[in-house]
Amino acid sequence: MEKPTEGAAKAKYLAAEKALQFVEPGMKLGLGTGSTAAYFVDLLGEKVAEGLDVLCVPTSSETKSQAEALGIPITTLGKIRRLDLVIDGTDEFDRRMNLIKGGGGALLQEKLVASAAEKMIVICDNSKRVRTLGAFPLPVEVVRFGWEVTESKILAIISRAFVGGVDISRRMDGDKPFVTDEGNYILDLDLKKIDEPPILAAQLKEIIGVVETGFFIDICKVIIVGKEDGTTRVINTRPAFRPVH
Ligand code: A5P
Repeated sequence: MEKPTEGAAKAKYLAAEKALQFVEPGMKLGLGTGSTAAYFVDLLGEKVAEGLDVLCVPTSSETKSQAEALGIPITTLGKIRRLDLVIDGTDEFDRRMNLIKGGGGALLQEKLVASAAEKMIVICDNSKRVRTLGAFPLPVEVVRFGWEVTESKILAIISRAFVGGVDISRRMDGDKPFVTDEGNYILDLDLKKIDEPPILAAQLKEIIGVVETGFFIDICKVIIVGKEDGTTRVINTRPAFRPVH
């Protein structure tokens, strides 16, 4: 893999490279989805080729194909049940380390994998840091059957919530609706500003037809932010979770 030398790509690569320092031989790892996670998978592939022993669960069909091509040993979540660590990207994070994910459409698997992991490390560039979540549209995965009814119920909830906008659009893939790996639709909620993410997350999950939301509340323990000046910043929870190398 060619190492990117400028822009957001460089920042993402640096964050991915730093995350390798948290990986220990014998670990069971969750592999995220998106361009930053893809850098991590590439770098992990290099370590595996050098002899690193890990077993990984990918969070999407896309990441699975990448890991397979690199010779990274993969398995399913159902087979191993518990993971030591998941490393994934994000679309936004706030100062409480709450996230919005799902820009790549893999939020359901990403959350299942994160919920089975001892720890989650997010890797990203500095553009993902926000004061308040919501500038990035919140993805909500819904079942296809009667999705219009689910959409109306979501609209009713967000119309009463402390948010800055109420636009909903069904995600498209060209001229067809986008369908997730699990066969569902994604509704993107353009809320501009979300004042109470945990409350809205709980309200949306109550709606029949909503499978999962892109909120990751109180899940992530470490965020590694790569910067275009060549540095990285590790934002840690207490007690600190530190690199092993
Ligand atoms: C995938 O569904 C998302 O949650 C990604 O993790 C997120 O979109 C980050 O992607 P980038 O690393 O490409 O910005």
